[in-house]
Amino acid sequence: MATPLPGSAPDSSNTPTAADVVVIGGGPGGYVAAIRAAQLGFNTVCVEMDKTLGGTCVNVGCIPSKALLTSSEHYEFAQHTAAAHGIGVGQLTLDLATMLKRKDDVVGQNTKGIEFLFRKNKITWAKGRGTLKPGNVVDVTSGGAGGPPAGNIASYQAKNVIIATGSVPIELPFLPFDEERILSNVGALKIPEVPKHLIVIGGGVIGLELGSVWKRLGAKVTVIELLPAILPGMDDDVVKEADRTLRKQGLEIRTNTRVTNGGRTATGAFVVVEQDGKPERIEGDYVLVAVGRRPATTGIDTKALGLNVGRRGELLVDDQMRTNLPNVFAIGDCVPGPMLAHKAEEEGVIAAEVIAGKPVHMHYKSIPNVVYTWPEIAAVGLTERQVKESGREYRTGKFPFSANGRARSLGDTTGFVKFIADAKTDELLGAHMIGPNVSETIAEVVLAFEYRGSSEDIGVTVHAHPTLSEVTKEAALATLGRALHI
Ligand code: NAI
Repeated sequence: MATPLPGSAPDSSNTPTAADVVVIGGGPGGYVAAIRAAQLGFNTVCVEMDKTLGGTCVNVGCIPSKALLTSSEHYEFAQHTAAAHGIGVGQLTLDLATMLKRKDDVVGQNTKGIEFLFRKNKITWAKGRGTLKPGNVVDVTSGGAGGPPAGNIASYQAKNVIIATGSVPIELPFLPFDEERILSNVGALKIPEVPKHLIVIGGGVIGLELGSVWKRLGAKVTVIELLPAILPGMDDDVVKEADRTLRKQGLEIRTNTRVTNGGRTATGAFVVVEQDGKPERIEGDYVLVAVGRRPATTGIDTKALGLNVGRRGELLVDDQMRTNLPNVFAIGDCVPGPMLAHKAEEEGVIAAEVIAGKPVHMHYKSIPNVVYTWPEIAAVGLTERQVKESGREYRTGKFPFSANGRARSLGDTTGFVKFIADAKTDELLGAHMIGPNVSETIAEVVLAFEYRGSSEDIGVTVHAHPTLSEVTKEAALATLGRALHI
């Protein structure tokens, strides 16, 4: 194995520098793949064209949105709930600039953290745009995202390539992003004022999380969803509860509504929607378009390289993350499956370990899915509808947070935990949660799924009292018909 490449400045000569592993893309999939490859002793390069590492998740996704969700929750608490605790806050003010700066600082701590991990593991960050050439040569050019490539910075002859080029938001043809008034997740994280009226197209994860942020800060928020319900793919009971709760919080949600046109006005933006065949113009000051993301393969000429792709342009891989080209792997949002950072990270680990000859493969049964609205939503496994459609006999168990002492003391009693288990074997098939802190509570259930656990396994496990996790235990017991506190 070659000696690790020193520092972060790549060789600028014309002869490609030899590398064991070149990862293209420094998001959660790519940077984790690079760390694992380096841990396994490979001389590793990660090519990232953005000015910071971390990709969408760290820079303009998971991390900044959670920072703003937290700040806006505090604001809402101070406004609506503090008084019930006997806490007076006097004249409440909102300093949005400070809130946005704090969010940027949180992002900075995370991107710097990844740079530290790269130094620690002697990973070379090739700062530029990576292009995969036949024969596993990776050219790195300057110019970055969108800019003209100014020239070759470096070339690597890679023994193995891991493509981790991520995804980009889907644009509506009549509403191209300008990030001023027509926003993707990028612009919606830095609106310089609290909108009077934010129109959100898409009642999925991004629409509801960022819609919640701006609603809490005082905006009127209208969510327009094409389908009959928000959060497609989630368990029906959870969707019903989420819809009810979010409406109660003041989000205007319009389902079965198609957006047919839109654009900017002198002072804001508008959309034209159609519901039951009736067109209507809605005016707002900003529009967030959150109708999904599509795989990105920047720098990867799939046709010229002969890479197999799916219908949406995603790179097709086997369960060891191998593409059809020798020693070329792909992971994360640019391959099939849910577009989730933790799925990408795991795929990155698998790719690095396969390169090291380890007998591992990726399996997708136990990947949790979390929505950070309040209450939070978390799920793992199949929905009740999916189990029903499979024809398998099953039982369900449900337990509400309103019957839990800790939830009452927190003053957060909305929601429930629901289990679906095989009727004969009691094997867990699905778990669906909506309620306080379920983003953390789901971890226990994911572990149970990983071990093919039963609802009895969770039901007979002692859970500390008083904790929110007792709701998980009780829901598992309810699946067996023996919940205690209801
Ligand atoms: P999404 O797929 O979650 O939701 C898009 C929504 O837009 C769907 O409900 C869809 O029916 C609706 N829609 C599509 N076209 C429409 C139209 N023309 N008019 C009205 N509604 C329309 O996609 P989203 O929210 O953009 O998120 C993108 C990706 O990012 C997702 O794959 C998600 O997994 C990931 N993500 C994950 C987060 C998390 O794990 N907490 C947070 C944010 C994003």
